[in-house]
Amino acid sequence: MTIAITTANGQLGSAVVSAVVARVGTSNVVALARTPEKAQHLGVEVRPGDYDDREQLTSSLQGIDTVLLISGISAPSERIEQHRNVIEAAVASGVRKIVFTGIQGAETSTAFSPIVQVSIDTEELIKSSGLQWAIGRNGIYIEPDVEYAATYAQHGEIANSAADGRCAYTTRPELAEAYAALVTTDTHNGRTVNLSGPTLSQSELAKYIGALVGVTLTYRPMSDADYLVDRTSELGDFFGPVIAGIYQGIREGANDTTSDFAAVVGRPHTSWDEYFANVEIAPPVD
Ligand SMILES: NC(=O)c1ccc[n+]([C@@H]2O[C@H](COP(=O)([O-])OP(=O)(O)OC[C@H]3O[C@@H](n4cnc5c(N)ncnc54)[C@H](OP(=O)(O)O)[C@@H]3O)[C@@H](O)[C@H]2O)c1
Repeated sequence: MTIAITTANGQLGSAVVSAVVARVGTSNVVALARTPEKAQHLGVEVRPGDYDDREQLTSSLQGIDTVLLISGISAPSERIEQHRNVIEAAVASGVRKIVFTGIQGAETSTAFSPIVQVSIDTEELIKSSGLQWAIGRNGIYIEPDVEYAATYAQHGEIANSAADGRCAYTTRPELAEAYAALVTTDTHNGRTVNLSGPTLSQSELAKYIGALVGVTLTYRPMSDADYLVDRTSELGDFFGPVIAGIYQGIREGANDTTSDFAAVVGRPHTSWDEYFANVEIAPPVD
C-alpha cells in the first residue's frame, strides 16, 4: 500500500510524512511537492506535485493506493481548481482512496467564508468522485500565536474581534498523527471528522501565552471594522481580511466545535496545560 502526501515539504505535509513513515516505513510513502528539491530531506521517494498541473499529478499518482490532499494556499477561485486537479488526477491514475484536510469556520458572512466554501466544495467533489474517502476538518493552528508570543508581550495584550467566542485550536503535530491514522486505516472511510483540541477563549489564550513569556497579557476585544483595518495594514489586502474573517467567525461561534481527534487517533488530545508547559517560544517578529 503506497501513500502519497501532497505539499510534502510544507509544515503540515512534512509532519504528516514523518507520522506516516512511523506507521508504514519509508518505502510505502511518496512525497509530492511542487518544488521536489525542497522535499529531498524527508527520506522518501519524491515526485513532482504542482496543483496547477493535472497531467503531472496524474503521472505522479501512478501506483498510489491512497493520497492525502492537503488544502492549497491560493485564492479561493484558483484553489478549487487546484483541488479538482488532484481529485481528477487521482481518479485517472487508479488511486483507491483520497483523504482531504478541510477547515472549520464560518461558512457564510465573513471574509474567511470563501475559503471555507472552497473546502466544502472540495468535500463534495471528493464524495462524488467514486473514490473511497475520509475528510478531516482542521481547527485553527495554535502555532502562529505561539510564534507571536514575544510580540504580544511587547504589546502587553492580545487584541482582536473574537470577543468571548471560543475556538477549537489544534497543533500541526497532532493533525499529522490524525491524518496518518486516516490514510493508513480504513476505519473512518466515508466520514467527516473534526480534528482540533479543546476550545479556548482569547482571555484563556492570553493567560497561556503570558505565562510562556513571563508577563501578564490582557485581552482587548476590537470591533470587526477596526480589526479589519488593523490586519489589512499589517498583512495586505488578501490575508488581512481573511484573518479578520476568522476572528469574526470565532466570535459568532463557528469554531466552538467538538473534536473527533480521540476517536481517530485512539488517545485524547494533549491538554493545553501540557502543551504550553512544553512548547518553545521564538524571539519577537517585529
Ligand atoms: N488550520 C489553520 O489554522 C491553517 C492556517 C494556515 C493555512 N492552513 C491550510 O493548511 C495548509 C497547510 O498548512 P502549512 O502550515 O503546512 O502551510 P505551509 O507550510 O505554508 O506549506 C504550504 C505548502 O503548499 C505548497 N504549495 C503552494 N502552492 C502550491 C501549488 N500550486 N502546488 C503544489 N503545492 C503548492 C508549498 O510548496 P512550495 O514550497 O513549493 O511553495 C508548501 O509546500 C495550507 O496550505 C492551508 O490550506 C490552515
